[in-house]
Amino acid sequence: MKFGHFDNENREYVITNPRTPVKWINYIGTREFGGFVDHTGGALICQQDPTFNRITKYIQQMPASDFKGATLYLRLHTDDGYHVFSPFFVPTLDPLDLFECHVGLGYTRIISEYLGLRTNVTIFVPLDDPREIRDIQITNLSDNPLNVDAIPLVEYTHPDALLQFTNADWLPQTMQSRAVEDGRFKILVQYPFMFRDTRINYLTSNLPVSAFETDRKKFLGDNEYGTFRVPLSLFQPELTNSQASRGDNIAALLHPLGILQPGETTRVILQLGQDSSIEAARTGIEKYRQAEAVDEALKEIRVFWDGYLGALQVDTPDESMNAMLNVHNPHQCYVTKTWSRYLSYYQLGLGSRGIGYRDSMQDVQSVMASVPEEARAFLLTLLYFQKCDGSVMHQFNPLTLEGSEGDSLEMEDRPHYYSDDHLWGVLAVTAYLKETGDLNFLKEIVPFYEKDAQGDAIESGSVLEHLKRGLDFTRHDTGQHDLPLLGFADWNDTVNMPTGAESLFTANLYGKALLEMIILFDHLGDASTASEYRVAYDEMKSRVESIAWDGKWYVRYFDDEGNPIGSSKNTYGQIYLNAQSWPVISGFASAERGRRAMDSAYERLNTNYGIRLSAPGFDGYDPKYGGVTTYPPGAKENSGIFLHPNPWAIIAEAILGNGERAYGYYAQINPVAKNEVIDIYECEPYVYAQNILGEEHPQFGLARNSWLTGTASWCYQAATQWILGIRPEYDGLRIDPCISSSWSGFSATRRFRGWLLYINVHNPQHVCKGVVEMKVDGEAVPGNLFSQDIPQGEHEIEVWLGE
Ligand code: GLC
Repeated sequence: MKFGHFDNENREYVITNPRTPVKWINYIGTREFGGFVDHTGGALICQQDPTFNRITKYIQQMPASDFKGATLYLRLHTDDGYHVFSPFFVPTLDPLDLFECHVGLGYTRIISEYLGLRTNVTIFVPLDDPREIRDIQITNLSDNPLNVDAIPLVEYTHPDALLQFTNADWLPQTMQSRAVEDGRFKILVQYPFMFRDTRINYLTSNLPVSAFETDRKKFLGDNEYGTFRVPLSLFQPELTNSQASRGDNIAALLHPLGILQPGETTRVILQLGQDSSIEAARTGIEKYRQAEAVDEALKEIRVFWDGYLGALQVDTPDESMNAMLNVHNPHQCYVTKTWSRYLSYYQLGLGSRGIGYRDSMQDVQSVMASVPEEARAFLLTLLYFQKCDGSVMHQFNPLTLEGSEGDSLEMEDRPHYYSDDHLWGVLAVTAYLKETGDLNFLKEIVPFYEKDAQGDAIESGSVLEHLKRGLDFTRHDTGQHDLPLLGFADWNDTVNMPTGAESLFTANLYGKALLEMIILFDHLGDASTASEYRVAYDEMKSRVESIAWDGKWYVRYFDDEGNPIGSSKNTYGQIYLNAQSWPVISGFASAERGRRAMDSAYERLNTNYGIRLSAPGFDGYDPKYGGVTTYPPGAKENSGIFLHPNPWAIIAEAILGNGERAYGYYAQINPVAKNEVIDIYECEPYVYAQNILGEEHPQFGLARNSWLTGTASWCYQAATQWILGIRPEYDGLRIDPCISSSWSGFSATRRFRGWLLYINVHNPQHVCKGVVEMKVDGEAVPGNLFSQDIPQGEHEIEVWLGE
């Protein structure tokens, strides 16, 4: 059964059946103020810090039918009393005549019809203005006058989100609310007592209210044997106007809208915000009571996204690919870059996880063309977490700028660094340089992480110095085969082996990073440093080639005793996807071995739902390997279809020139295609999920952990830079597609540095790869590079593929 469809013209996905297999969400606002809204109007909102400054109480683990954080009730006055329902479906679960949740760029709009009332609610956070707006428009569709009340509701959490669940004595004693008169309006103010004079939450609207409620117990009624589905207080004429002095705090405003004539619409504008005091908030509150301000704020969001998406728009023969590349994939990339792994339906934002260095260095690569300044600033923040020895802090709290070694601290006897983390910085910085041409960035001075007793950095270095230190760290941090030591883990967080294990993933990532440095130093005209790195590259290449080939594929690790893992000799985990794709990406694999390795991956790991990370899955907990063996076979890193490495396989196939496979791998994991198998897949068909259960699992095909995953960034890069082949280089923009031979061509509009380029690729001979001719504004140019020497402005690029 399908639950919705794409509306490409309006850049939305429209959910038309609220009973989705799991909640499907969207993001509003930023990390300054915002969070996510689910498709039934529930919302998890916080200011700056999901752990210590959370505003709404949203408990992901509760059943889908439960009230979560926020809702809206409508109350129709009938001859027999009241008819109360939620136009969001949850929590009253009425059989609405129409339900549409429009998942848009920076907003969610829920439209529904029931009992002759059409409700249209747009939920968003204005750019740079911290408040959640719910623009509620209610229309009488019937032929009769209808007497309606609107009762929007939020439930607060204590700002310390974890404490909310671990303390049921001190905490409820501190939660308080009061009502403030504001001319014709009411502002409901809420705070834990200790923040009364410094930080308050508020809920208010643009219309007078007849009553309010802040005490959940009174709202639900009957000592909370009343429910959010049938809140008993809504069957009384008025709410109790209680100002909660403790307990579970909510905010509900009863708006008597009066008689709506047939065809008439009323607009209730709701604001949920946080400020130091009501006085401080008042100007903003007044501003957004005006409908014009709300319309303008929504327009500004649209303008932002026009600009963002204007970096690249494509027209390929694959509509699903177009939908993803033109709207939903870049949207997810920006959300993922913003939220890291903080807060989603699956990432609860409760611990100290904060921002991961490795993840963010990958996420940021997908936003370079759209928001280069933001990418630049974020790179500088990330590099600050690099230590003097070149390794990095695994993660950090973006507010306190405190770094941590992450999960590696949980095992005393294991190393407290991840062997891959620092190397991602090389890929991200060079990607930024190639996109923008901003070579001065290399000279920016960034402190290293270590501080002296006064809290000052003990050493600083240029961005370039940071990159070099990272490479030096890996060069010297090698084990018994002279391959990089695993550290606590590499990209695969869940394989944690005793000290002394070596990682082929890190060896190849190091190789790729060295390649990037060689290209950079060649471009900078520094031949001697380039050749130093070439020596390091050749050294590692020969080690990998002489030690890691298993016959039909590459091994993935050596354990502390020197035994291979990811080898035909193993019982479990005989072959790993990353061990095959990365030697191609690093250029370590010969064309012949690269092909063989990728064919083995195809034969042993591919499924219709995506490529598995490894096979066969470990079948039982084994402390030697750690986390990976805590999953049943087929789940997550234990032979599940872990999606993040799938685009690396796409890139490897594109490098090898196999366009059918590259495109086939892309198409099989395209979320759009999941719309057809959604009962099995379950997650949002408009964003990538992190994982899909693999063949060995009884629920093969089921996805989880959507939104915040490196899959977004890498699928975007794989599709745009490697399948479509539109790839920034230092000297210009390379056009080197590797497509399905069935395609007759495609076109794209690409903003690049100061140019706007209209690219047309023709494939008359139906090949996968190989540019035979390229013209810029009708003039033939050598090779397939749009050179940076061409004057700025708009240009037409025509490219012909062929033999
Ligand atoms: C998760 C983590 C990422 C890691 C991956 C594989 O996606 O966020 O850092 O590389 O799992 O273990």
